[in-house]
Amino acid sequence: MSTISPKEERLGLIQQIRKYQQQYYLNQPLVTDEIYDQLMQQLRELEQQQSVSSVESPTVRLQGDVLSQFPKKVHQFPMLSLGNTYSQQELEEWARGIENSLSTESKEKVEYICELKIDGLAISLIYENGRLVSAITRGDGTIGDEVTENIQTISTLPVEVGKEHSFEVRGEVYLPKKHFHQINQTRKKWGEVLFKNPRNATAGTIRLLDRQEVHRRKLDLFVYSLLGTTAYSFHSKQIEKLKTLHFPINPHLKLCSSIQQVVEFCEKWEKQKDDLPYEIDGVVVKVNSIQQQEQLGMTAKSPRWATAFKFTTTQAMTQILDIEIGVGRTGVLTPVAILEPVALNGTLVSRATLHNYDQISRLQLYINDWVTIEKRGEIIPQIVLVHPEKRSDAILPIVPPTACPACQSIAIQEEGEIDWRCPNPLCAGKIKEQILHFVSRKAMNIDAIGPSLIEKLLEQQWIQSVADLYELEYEKLIQLERFGEKSVTNILQAIEYSKQTTLSRFLFALGIRHIGQKTAQILSRHYGSINAFLEAKPEELERIHEVGPIIARSLGEYLQESENRQLIQRLLHAGIDPKVQTSAQKEVANITGKIIVLTGTLSQPRDRWKARLEEAGATIVGSVSKKTDYVLVGENAGSKLKKAKQLNIPVVSEQEIESWFSSEPQE
Ligand code: IVH
Repeated sequence: MSTISPKEERLGLIQQIRKYQQQYYLNQPLVTDEIYDQLMQQLRELEQQQSVSSVESPTVRLQGDVLSQFPKKVHQFPMLSLGNTYSQQELEEWARGIENSLSTESKEKVEYICELKIDGLAISLIYENGRLVSAITRGDGTIGDEVTENIQTISTLPVEVGKEHSFEVRGEVYLPKKHFHQINQTRKKWGEVLFKNPRNATAGTIRLLDRQEVHRRKLDLFVYSLLGTTAYSFHSKQIEKLKTLHFPINPHLKLCSSIQQVVEFCEKWEKQKDDLPYEIDGVVVKVNSIQQQEQLGMTAKSPRWATAFKFTTTQAMTQILDIEIGVGRTGVLTPVAILEPVALNGTLVSRATLHNYDQISRLQLYINDWVTIEKRGEIIPQIVLVHPEKRSDAILPIVPPTACPACQSIAIQEEGEIDWRCPNPLCAGKIKEQILHFVSRKAMNIDAIGPSLIEKLLEQQWIQSVADLYELEYEKLIQLERFGEKSVTNILQAIEYSKQTTLSRFLFALGIRHIGQKTAQILSRHYGSINAFLEAKPEELERIHEVGPIIARSLGEYLQESENRQLIQRLLHAGIDPKVQTSAQKEVANITGKIIVLTGTLSQPRDRWKARLEEAGATIVGSVSKKTDYVLVGENAGSKLKKAKQLNIPVVSEQEIESWFSSEPQE
């Protein structure tokens, strides 16, 4: 039997943790947070036993370390994702849906444009007066990391495009296959962990703090869209314009006059993808006419006028080993299948969600059954097929829970409901999930707070609800085992940053039953402020377009509970300042995320300007600095105007900003 030395064990563990960290940042976690935390703990113990520590060890280099060094920026236009299609049939269905919905409004034919789907990292490039001023990663779609300096190392990117141009360009940063292999060869030589694929390497590179190293890695870029201008009526014209401005455009794009041509393009590239010098994972199909794009609009997550045709359906077969019961934030007890680990599209899958017990009986599923699982973008894959022909005698039935696994309360199933739930409002499992939901990326995005910290805080009874997070103090957190000055400062800073948020995120973060991201956005648009939302009357809720009776009832019940209202008041009192996220419209989007200074005598009360601009997503500050985006000047402006001129900060008049608001009102 071969034995490994303690040192080898430690180094192996470091490699494993680094791999998990990389995958985590690519949004493709390989393990649960619990397992990750256990491995970290194991590593700390090994380091202690061996009396070693290195600044490069994951126990010292915090997960968020590198990331948090980049300033966060709000996107002018949300960075959406794309819906996926996986077969010719799905592609044709997508096109039929589009053509049907357009044919009721116009008789014009639909033209499609096919582009290769480069497998890299989305980037937003902001040009002002012809100069690249900012490059922002996608982040969560609303807020990303500003990585301008690193992007400037890409030699194919034009840095100056002519003073008359102020616009946003989007594209994909990628690492050519050749450079990816070279980097990995060097890493191998130095005994470093290899990057799994070029996309992974791109993500790792873009977040490096060492600009020289970024330069050496030779990232490249293709751009695929132009925003912030209404000068072009077709996507293809925008692309042509970008080409004349010397932006790198992928040469393999095709204008198609029928979906059959689109299908041919997809088939061709599925076969030829390995001949390309960079990786692609599909084809992006877009409606070419901007007017038709606008007619089609978007869902909460993605535009209806585009889809990604993905090359591989990611399915695998494996066996169900056990069923675990998860406690959700509303107390729903959800069965989760524990699987024999199986590789699926480069990640190891060991869990699959089962939604509810109805699905189990529909699938006629047993423990030890063989199943086909499929991953379609989500982190947790789904079971799509059971294979009864492979069944052995060892199968065991899956029965609904009798008790909550977290607090042992008797599980209940309300009349007419499919779900089983834990009825205990003080169930620790529920509270943990509520907090996890609150801090999650799409909610308040407090990335420094993970499950194990929440558990510790609950254990210490320092938090009983999300509002308590905002009362955590340095003196307390520093007492926690294994939390040093740096990690505590990171946590408190992340909590502080979260106070600047959008109303829709805040409403989503509250975790009200049936209020998902999309409904939160609808409510945010409808009410426009948290105070207006708090005053909503139950009877008016149902009248909101797109809010059905179930949502209205849930909201009504939530707002009636004085505890819920108190919680919201506590959160607002703690300094949370939910602003309305603007729609993807240029005029107001110009204000979103901008830092504006007001000076001079204005024709409207200053507070009113402040409220309007803040409502549109701006931050109003008192003094002019390099970070200021605009100065709004009234009459008799003095030193602030002078400073703005010195620093070359654009100065705008009330009329000018007024015209942004009025020419295209906020949605
Ligand atoms: S268009 C509304 N075109 O694929 C989204 N995306 O979810 C518009 N991507 O990471 C995206 N090549 O960065 C578009 N030619 C292309 C693309 C492309 C790669 C990436 C994009 C994002 C993902 C789409």
